Amino acid sequence: MTDTRSENRLFWENEERLLDERISQAVWPGGQKALERLAKQGKRPVRDLIQMLIDPGTQFYELSVIAGFGMGYPGVDDVPCAGIVTGLGKIHGNWTMIIANDSRVKAGTYFPITLKKHLRAQRIAERCGLNCVYIADSGGAFLPMQADVFPDEDHFGAMFYNMARMSAKGLKQITLSTGGNTAGGAYIVFMACEAVMIDKLAYSFLGGPPLVKAATGEVISAENLGGARVHTQISGGADHFCKTQEEAIATVRNILAFEQPQKLQTFRFAEVPPRVPPETIYEILPPIIHQGINTRAFLETIADDSYFMEYKKNYAPGRGDNIVTGKIRIKGIETGIIASNGLGIIFVEAARKATEFIVRCSYDKCPLIFIQSSPGYMVGSESEHMGIGKYGADMVRAVSCAQVPKIQLVIGPDNGAANYGMCGRAYHPHFLFSTMRARTSVMSGRSAAEVLLTIEQRKREIKGKPMTEEEIAEFKKKMIDKYDGEAHPFFCGARLLTDRVLKFNQIRDWLAMALEVSLLQPIGEPSFGNMRF
Ligand code: COA
Repeated sequence: MTDTRSENRLFWENEERLLDERISQAVWPGGQKALERLAKQGKRPVRDLIQMLIDPGTQFYELSVIAGFGMGYPGVDDVPCAGIVTGLGKIHGNWTMIIANDSRVKAGTYFPITLKKHLRAQRIAERCGLNCVYIADSGGAFLPMQADVFPDEDHFGAMFYNMARMSAKGLKQITLSTGGNTAGGAYIVFMACEAVMIDKLAYSFLGGPPLVKAATGEVISAENLGGARVHTQISGGADHFCKTQEEAIATVRNILAFEQPQKLQTFRFAEVPPRVPPETIYEILPPIIHQGINTRAFLETIADDSYFMEYKKNYAPGRGDNIVTGKIRIKGIETGIIASNGLGIIFVEAARKATEFIVRCSYDKCPLIFIQSSPGYMVGSESEHMGIGKYGADMVRAVSCAQVPKIQLVIGPDNGAANYGMCGRAYHPHFLFSTMRARTSVMSGRSAAEVLLTIEQRKREIKGKPMTEEEIAEFKKKMIDKYDGEAHPFFCGARLLTDRVLKFNQIRDWLAMALEVSLLQPIGEPSFGNMRF
């Protein structure tokens, strides 16, 4: 191993150790004390329940684990894991979306980020045609922030709106209630296709005992107001009565055992492991984010047999190959690739090639993976006159309209319009993953500092107080710190701008999962709007 390669590896391993630390804060909120409190209530930690729910020996693909840190909500800075666990697992062989409150985080109440995470999971499920299991244990809206979570289109009511519409499409909505479900939260039980409640653990009511007393003067226990017996024997609001969490999990599995097996909408070839091990990624990606990358070498680490069938390999050298296009298979599933290469600055030739390939894959009904490491489209008069705006817009049109499954993976800079053309969040990729090398922001810290400095200097000159060298340096540093901080995967991961920050050695496995899940629904016919070409 050359020095550079081992230095790269050391750097990335250290970065991923930081990621591990963040994940462990998310997975163990409140530490041992919170675990003991749960045990006293007769409850297992939420991830234990999920592991029991999915098929034995299979993996739970947990989404957005580092969501909710550093949010700066009034009185609550961190909401570990956004207070809710979401992810994909197989139940009787069928991919299923699991959405589970973590009652250790403020009684599983909904902060804005909790809601965003819940709705994102439902959106994936609806688009990919997955059944949903809700493990409900929540005090409902986080009351100090009710105005930010209750009344709007994408607020609390949207969770139930989604349940109703998914159920109407034939996607099963199963709720396992294992705690309090009060007020709006009670609808998670009553809106389900089938709801399972646990004796003396699960409660569901529109108003809890204190509210009932205040409103009507009636004094009643939670059990007699809306416990498992009440809803399975009297109100009929729930369907299955269980004595323990274990029995409740088994009941959910039994309900879903009657589901038809899912079908992949593509032929799956035999899986061939890469000849270049995925571990090699640690050695080939440089720690300096704006340093160029060798994408072909990266693709060898994730492709079956390390084989990349490149499209237009020789086209416009130095200008056309800042994006490489072509096809690979991942665990036997064919996929198109649109990948930044070198410095990743997108020239006209690269934009045109990428557009052409997106359209081609759409006619082939071949999914697309966008591997993003681009600081933007090429600027300057030559580029403008050649039509970078027009051809960049064509690329954005193609990305927007492509009906095939789209997955984005960010492994470097992710700035400006390149975020659009390479299928950023606003372009609705089925899944969006990033890594510790990802930096997502409108521009890099350095560029932002220069732009803002020019504006500030002009203002100060008009006032007759030009900036001193020291003030300039301080201003620049402040802007660089702000922009680079906001582009960091921890900042973006906290705000759900990615579905998961992956470790390099997880990339192949997660891409295979994402391809499989997003190919469960038939692919629509290609239709592109007002292309200019
Ligand atoms: N909004 C804000 N904070 C809430 C909350 C809510 N809706 N419900 C609970 N919390 C907070 C508590 O203040 C407590 O905070 P702390 O750890 O800083 O002291 C923490 O969450 C744990 O609550 P606690 O009551 O100790 O947990 P529990 O397991 O004994 O009971 C509930 C859980 C959900 C049954 C109970 O908290 C409850 O009834 N909450 C109110 C539910 C409600 O009326 N919601 C209406 C929303 S639409």
